[in-house]
Amino acid sequence: MKRLSSTDADLRTAGKAIKDGLLVAFPTETVYGLGGDGFNRSALARIFQAKRRPRFDPLIIHIAEIDTLDRIGCRDALPRSLQEKITVLTKTLWPGPLTLVLPKRPEVPDLATSGLNTVAVRFPSHPAAMKLIAYSTGAVAAPSANPFGYLSPTRAEHVEKLLGDAVDFIVDAGPADIGVESTVLDLTQEPVRLLRPGGTPREKIESLIGKIESREKATDAPRSPGMLKSHYAPRTPLVLLTREQLLEQIAVDRDAGRSRAYLFFDQETREESGAVDGFVLSRGGGCAEAAASLFDVLHQMDGLSADCIYAQRAPERGLGAAINDRLSRASMRREDD
Ligand code: TXA
Ligand code: MG
Repeated sequence: MKRLSSTDADLRTAGKAIKDGLLVAFPTETVYGLGGDGFNRSALARIFQAKRRPRFDPLIIHIAEIDTLDRIGCRDALPRSLQEKITVLTKTLWPGPLTLVLPKRPEVPDLATSGLNTVAVRFPSHPAAMKLIAYSTGAVAAPSANPFGYLSPTRAEHVEKLLGDAVDFIVDAGPADIGVESTVLDLTQEPVRLLRPGGTPREKIESLIGKIESREKATDAPRSPGMLKSHYAPRTPLVLLTREQLLEQIAVDRDAGRSRAYLFFDQETREESGAVDGFVLSRGGGCAEAAASLFDVLHQMDGLSADCIYAQRAPERGLGAAINDRLSRASMRREDD
């Protein structure tokens, strides 16, 4: 893996590499992605191989210009009410951490969409991502740059450690700002459905297009891509607790003379617990700060060889919903281990 910076010259090199069918890991405002040309079948096949990702889990195509949307999805085939919602969402929230699932154009390779007749499209707001996409083919397929099922990468070092030479280049632009993946929204039928809570809070979407439906219950069935129960999981088992349960657990551990790996949502809970160590997601208690450090902290905690991580739930609002979604999937037992 060759390391590049986010200078214009390096981003041109990275863009050309994608044009040539190579794989480039790059920063977005949410997490680092593993990019390849969305219309190149062999690049797409390499993405699945590098991540050891099952072929039934489709990829997001990243664009850097709104007009490219119509080369990938067919919004004109949808009823007017949905077309209007798409217009409002793209005008207000793109570029940004929101992925839209639309009917797919036949030119998009089936490999990218796992044979579905829908396609996921995202217009990221990270300046390096935007330039890289513009300098490449304009349509970059990019899942998060982690092995399938493992914690997502929010730093270039995570990608280097996890994927190494399975990737040709990595653009390093420092830690990702948002820290949780984009919100995925299904706009192929009414009611509009939230498939994955993420960097764009549900409240913001509902303030623009009205009430949206929650995703179906999480399932491992391949027909429900993006909703796999166990995902984003560290190797260390993780138990998700409310604030009160965590405080109780720490008291029990203290009485038994043992200490475990504790993940606090806020500094106040940590102080109240009296625990001498432990990790804190947010010093000021805010969900945006907590989301930005979530995966980095979990990567660190997974390196401690603890028997178990006890993690505190975030408040279920704004980015807190995405944090709780990732923590709850991290707490599911992995079937393949
Ligand atoms: O923030 C993000 O979205 C990051 C950065 C790199 O852009 N990307 C990312 O990609 O998280 P990935 O592949 O790790 O997650 C994409 C999610 C998966 O859960 C996948 O199942 C879902 O989007 N997805 C993709 N195409 C879909 C489709 N046609 N229908 C339903 N879900 C789809
Ligand atoms: Mg992922």
